[in-house]
Order: sequence, then structure tokens, then C-alpha cells
Amino acid sequence: MSTTSNLSASGRFELQPAPPASDEVRAARMQNPGFGRFFTDNMIVIPYKEGEGWGRGALKPYGLIPIDPAGSVLHYGQAIFEGFKAYHQPDGSIKTFRPEANAHRFNASAKRLAMPELPVELFIEAAELLITQDRVWVPKAVGESLYMRPFMIGTEAALGVRPSKEYLFILIASPAGAYFPQGVKPVTVWISEDYVRAAPGGTGSAKCAGNYAGSLVAQQQAKDKGCDQVVWIDAIHRKYVEEMGGMNIFFVYEENGKTIVVTPILTGTLLPGITRLSLLEIAKELGFGAEERKISIEDWEKDLREGRMTEAFACGTAAVITPIGTVKSVHGAWVIKDGQTGPVSAKLRETLLNIQHGLVLDTRGWLHKVI
Ligand code: PLP
Ligand code: COI
Repeated sequence: MSTTSNLSASGRFELQPAPPASDEVRAARMQNPGFGRFFTDNMIVIPYKEGEGWGRGALKPYGLIPIDPAGSVLHYGQAIFEGFKAYHQPDGSIKTFRPEANAHRFNASAKRLAMPELPVELFIEAAELLITQDRVWVPKAVGESLYMRPFMIGTEAALGVRPSKEYLFILIASPAGAYFPQGVKPVTVWISEDYVRAAPGGTGSAKCAGNYAGSLVAQQQAKDKGCDQVVWIDAIHRKYVEEMGGMNIFFVYEENGKTIVVTPILTGTLLPGITRLSLLEIAKELGFGAEERKISIEDWEKDLREGRMTEAFACGTAAVITPIGTVKSVHGAWVIKDGQTGPVSAKLRETLLNIQHGLVLDTRGWLHKVI
């Protein structure tokens, strides 16, 4: 690490970058990056102290962070995160997809966890700085990207159960290939009736670490049942479909010659996905109907059996669109579209990827130019 440091143009970050990994090491890691296995050379850290606010950030070598054993995140779980991606564009530039939406959701999560909000422009500047510094890590192939993982943790050394007075915002980046190693092959899902992801008044609409910790045993159960992913149903009626693992869910209906994509309405217990929101708009542009409403497990089974529902898929930043081929629960199993990827899921996936990779015109200003 250099001992002398420079400031970023805004003066808000000290620049202490690492010497870059060798071309050989980087090439080996980027050849088959998978998801979240390798990280770029650097990271961003911004400290927060009650009374002082956000301090000067640093761009520094990716590495361990010191944390006091009494640090509050280690005990009471004040931790939130986000995920968005940077894409190589055909003109050689690099753009991120809707990063402001992630910044706003990050702050909504912060509020729910009694954590300080981070100014949106600081969130964006941090991402621009890290991507620019580590641009050689942005993969070039369509379907590949640099996954950005901002997060915030409570770091005050104090065991009282109250909001931490100190925090760290950290941003790391990871070259990403396919999230599900089997590619866009449809997944088999297990409808979880033993576990609940989120309840009214809880933290379901926040992207906080605890939601994921609480989901792991259900995901394990799904695996034990021979499934790839868990499907969550609502906590009160125990019948309305909410999400699939860490992704939102869509159903495709064919009604009177019209294609309609339907996704569960946001009730406060679902994560408001940015891919979900984008697909609702893209679907309309493609001439499909797009609706947000409640769908029960019974609807799912019956509408499928009666031929009205033709496809189902999950969506999220990491995996984009993942078709659902088989649904299993304690009550039985049913197959969607003969376990194949349906044309509507495929079309939506292709259209979204084309927008993200700059292969079609970005008519909505969803892409944010970094460099
Ligand atoms: N639902 C949950 C629980 C998630 O963790 C995610 C991923 O961030 C999503 C849905 C999809 O959200 P997005 O499309 O913003 O990635
Ligand atoms: C998503 O982006 O779809 C996710 O669920 C992120 C996940 C790795 C937590």
C-alpha cells in the first residue's frame, strides 16, 4: 500500500489503490468467475460516527477489515447490503444498471434497521471510483458483468441493545458469470410451509443480512427435498406466493389470445426488486399485459392445470431470469411448460440483457455511464 495518498476529484475519498493483480492471475479468475468467488483489487470504505456523520472514504486494497469483538453487527446484526452490476458496452464504455434505485433501496433498508442513510451521490461516486480503478475486472461477454456489493455494518464496541453509534459502509466488487451454474435451465422449487421469510411489520422489504440468515435452513430443506430453491408464502394466510429464495417471482398467463405477466403485489413483506420493476415495464413495451396482484398456491396449481398459466420464472440482479420448471410441496408436485424454458421468459430475459449490455437503445435512461 502506498503511504502517500491522493484525494479523489470530489475530495471525499483518499486514493490508496493496491498494485493490480498480474494479468495471469486476473485472467485465470475471470475465465470462469462463477458468482461471488473472486474479488477485484480494491474496495471502498467510508466510516460513520454519530455526531460527525460520514467521514472521508478510502479506496484501498481489498482485504480484511478490523472489527472489535464487541462490534454490534456481530451480536445484534445491524447489517444491510445491495447488489447491482456494471456492464461492458459495445462502444468500450462501462455502465451500471439503475444504481440510483439500489442507493434508494439501501437507504430504505438503513431506515428500517435504525442505521444512518448514505447520500445517494456518495453511493454512486463510490461505485464509479471502484469500477474506474478496477475496470480491467469488468467481464466483456454478454451475460457476464461486475457485481457490485455495497453493504453497511454497525461497528460500535458496545453490548447494549440499541442502534450502533458507528458504522462502516463498504463496497466490494466481484466479476460474475452465471449465478446458477446450470445456466438458464429451469429450476425445481419447494414451497416452504415450515418456515416463513417475512411477516407484516418485520424486515421483509429491507435487504438486511438477517433475512438471509433466517432463510438458509429453508433452503437446506428445499435441497433435502430434491429442489433447487425455496418458494416463500405469506406468513398470515399461509397461501399467497411471495418470493423464490432471493428473487421475485412472475407468472405468465395466456388469456383470450393475450399474454399477461403477473407478479405478487408488494405487501411490505416482499423485497421490492429492481429487476421486477424493470420487467413490468419491459413486458408492457413488448405488448404483454403486466399486473401486480396476489396469487395463491391454489391459483398456481389450478391456473396451470386449466392452461391459463403457461410459464413461471424468478428474477433478480444476480441471475436475471430463472425459469421455474417443477413445483413441489407436501401436497404434491406439478410441472410447468414440460420443465422447459417458455418463450415469454426467454424473450424478457433476452430483452433485459440486451438493454444492460447496450445492444439495444436504452430509452428509459436506466444505464448510468461510469467510464
Ligand atoms: N428478493 C430478494 C429476497 C432478494 O434478495 C433479491 C435480490 O436482491 C430480489 C428479490 C431481487 O431484487 P433485485 O431485482 O433488485 O436484484
Ligand atoms: C439477486 O440479485 O437476485 C440476489 O438475490 C442477490 C443474492 C446473492 C442475495
